[in-house]
Amino acid sequence: MEEQQYNTINAIEWRGDHVRILDQTFLPGRTVFSDIRDVGRMWEAIKKLRVRGAPAIGIAAAYGLYLGVRELHENNYSSFEIEVKRISEYLNSARPTAVNLSWALHRIQSTLHAHRNESIAELKNRVLKTAQTIHDEDKRVCKSIGINGVELVGKKARILTHCNTGALATGQYGTALSVIYHAHEAGKKIHVWVDETRPLLQGARLTAWELQRANIPMKLVTDSMAGHLMYTGKVDMVIVGTDRVAANGDMANKIGTYSLAVLARHHNIPFYVATPASTIDLQIAHGGDIPIEERDPREITTIGSSEIAPPKVEVYNPAFDITPAELITAYITEKGIIRPAFPENLKKAFGS
Ligand code: MRU
Repeated sequence: MEEQQYNTINAIEWRGDHVRILDQTFLPGRTVFSDIRDVGRMWEAIKKLRVRGAPAIGIAAAYGLYLGVRELHENNYSSFEIEVKRISEYLNSARPTAVNLSWALHRIQSTLHAHRNESIAELKNRVLKTAQTIHDEDKRVCKSIGINGVELVGKKARILTHCNTGALATGQYGTALSVIYHAHEAGKKIHVWVDETRPLLQGARLTAWELQRANIPMKLVTDSMAGHLMYTGKVDMVIVGTDRVAANGDMANKIGTYSLAVLARHHNIPFYVATPASTIDLQIAHGGDIPIEERDPREITTIGSSEIAPPKVEVYNPAFDITPAELITAYITEKGIIRPAFPENLKKAFGS
């Protein structure tokens, strides 16, 4: 069945003694898999967006930690723990905005601490097992997000989405794209507007590729066309993913998301955010405290190998922006639809 095409995308795979990633920097032109056998290569893959999307980088970091700890020669728990922390901090330094990275690494560290009386060999094995659990859980969670979101999608909804939130960005299915896949599977006659997502074109390169494989009707547009689409009545809902949700319901997502939320509010269009619990950071009070990654200016001054700006031009390249809670209609999560008031309702659902 064509709809199952997205089930065949494995952004990350554990292959017995190494990790295989689908290197997303080559898509859509070439399908290149890359075998990662050490923690340095995993750091580089996360930094360079060979593997990307909040849940996927959490999974990748978890396996990366195993690749690092399996090389350790410590023979007592306290020096092992110090090394685990050092490798975790190194991996966490690859990208600051998506909380899934530190969430996965902390989860492994807590597991190790809870089993600190075991042998170092057993603890190393626990790191791998926990990474695999995080990976498997994400597949189930993303499926639930998709199923839970279907009720929000009209029978002929025209949905606008931003960046890539699909199977490539997660263990399977995706977050916002999981809702789209499941609505399509449920027989809804949806049409998707795919923002190209400057500067790295995750929409054009990755989301368009995923939706084409799944035979879901779509059209690619540039980011600046969203206002015109809404003004001319061509959008029924916006669904995006997120990299970090703060306790008050503000959230960070790919640069350009905030503008979409403002536009959606102006045109009275619902604005939904699909998120797993692993992206919710109740330790952060509000969006202003979420660290925003700034990336290489060349991502803006070049397209492919072509220079598109004068030499030495100054550039500002924040990779994410903050959308305030008051612009968000609801969060679509594995625990159901969370509506305002967000501080109370996020805490009720995810506080533990
Ligand atoms: O820089 P990227 O490509 O990692 O950014 C990805 C996004 O912004 C996604 O919308 C977000 O991670 C949620 S996807 C599951």
